[in-house]
Amino acid sequence: MSLKDKINPAKLPKHIAIIMDGNGRWAQKQGKERVFGHQNGVRAVRDVTEAAAELGVKYLTLYAFSTENWNRPREEVNALMELLIHTIHQERHTLVKNNIKLVIIGDMETLPSHCKNELREAIEVTSHNTHMSMILALSYSSKWEITRAVKNIALKVSDGKLNPESINEDTIEAHLLTSGIPDPELMIRTSGEYRISNFLLWQIAYSELYFSPTLWPEYTKEDLYEAIISFQNRERRFGLVSEQIQK
Ligand code: IPE
Ligand code: IPE
Ligand code: MG
Repeated sequence: MSLKDKINPAKLPKHIAIIMDGNGRWAQKQGKERVFGHQNGVRAVRDVTEAAAELGVKYLTLYAFSTENWNRPREEVNALMELLIHTIHQERHTLVKNNIKLVIIGDMETLPSHCKNELREAIEVTSHNTHMSMILALSYSSKWEITRAVKNIALKVSDGKLNPESINEDTIEAHLLTSGIPDPELMIRTSGEYRISNFLLWQIAYSELYFSPTLWPEYTKEDLYEAIISFQNRERRFGLVSEQIQK
């Protein structure tokens, strides 16, 4: 029985989020520049997206570039932006063909303008696609997203459009960039690091976490299947006791 066959389609996570980590270490292990790792990470993005879409996952969120990543050496940041533009340009038609919608969460304004244009075009041509949403977290950090939400809520209150007494969890959710997207049931981080690095802090409140030792450029469909199988073997209790779940 293949790993894929062990996946129970009735218990598939609707939304999987991945912190794609380890590109630099993968390149350095073979005496190459870090950028070489980013270039090879594109293959893993393609395969994992295809695997998720084939399985019927509805939302796949990929952490591609954090707010903090702007502080990396300039050459690496530039190379990452170029790679992003090139990849989006190249993969746009595949997204259309496979009925995948591209969504960006993050501070688009901080991206170089040719990068923004390329992304806007890809967002536009895929906007009516319905099979799966591929959500790229770009120039994203969760604290930035939450701060932005708080600011927008405060503005509505000061404009008299929102009664502070009415603010609840739904209000917060509606002001996040992930508004309308269900929270990820499964969050994966590759490369053997055990941290969240400012990713989806609100949204992962009850996500199952899965840490893989594999460096991102070596990550395959099989690795994704393994994470999903692990997820399906867990009991999600949401604060209840086991007996209540099994009823
Ligand atoms: C993840 O790989 C990609 C980005 C953060 C853009 P890294 O570049 O962080 O690779 P490591 O963690 O240094 O190996
Ligand atoms: C997190 O990876 C961001 C992305 C995967 C895009 P990092 O490699 O930047 O995270 P830290 O700094 O090691 O926590
Ligand atoms: Mg890293």
